[in-house]
Amino acid sequence: MMQAKTPSESAAILTDLVLPGETNPLNNLFGGELLARMDRAASIAARRHSRRITVTASVNHVAFNRAIPLGSVVTIEAKVSRTFKTSMEIFLDVWIEDRESGLKNKANEAIYTFVAVDETGRPVEIPPIEPETELEKQRFDAALRRKQLSLVLAGKMNPQDATELKALFM
Ligand SMILES: CC(C)(COP(=O)(O)OP(=O)(O)OC[C@H]1O[C@@H](n2cnc3c(N)ncnc32)[C@H](O)[C@@H]1OP(=O)(O)O)[C@@H](O)C(=O)NCCC(=O)NCCS
Repeated sequence: MMQAKTPSESAAILTDLVLPGETNPLNNLFGGELLARMDRAASIAARRHSRRITVTASVNHVAFNRAIPLGSVVTIEAKVSRTFKTSMEIFLDVWIEDRESGLKNKANEAIYTFVAVDETGRPVEIPPIEPETELEKQRFDAALRRKQLSLVLAGKMNPQDATELKALFM
């Protein structure tokens, strides 16, 4: 068994501006641009945790709850929320910083799955994760259910085998 790591050991924080080429006609950050930024941050956290080449296996959940206006300072925090054998769930929190107060307001959240692979692209085993904070523990606990949902939707798991999902409804 590999040595466990904590989510904060591999956390990645990406802070950047929203410039004119990155907005939609309402002058808010273009959704695909945010997805790309989140993918970069998640990829760095996944790589720090596994010390391997990592690839995006799926984007499990993204909600664009709040528009991010042109000129905003956007901070994306990516943390490994749970590891499995070769895959890991990365939880992303997106914040916008108010220019005058400097306070950060939550804009969006997303959940990505990354897989660690060798030089030939074959999945390889990764170290386990040990959540520390209350939030990290909550996210860890819910991650197995999300993995099963993602696999069922991708046609990679028989719904009959999705024990965590069944437990939600029975
Ligand atoms: C991601 C990839 C390595 C998975 O390969 P695979 O043949 O499905 O391999 P496996 O079945 O062994 O799955 C590997 C792990 O990924 C997980 N996984 C695969 N598809 C998944 C999905 N849709 N959602 C969540 N987890 C998934 C599996 O559950 C397994 O996890 P575990 O080992 O931690 O239990 C492969 O599909 C790939 O290389 N995809 C392209 C990745 C890429 O290029 N991304 C960038 C897109 S531009």
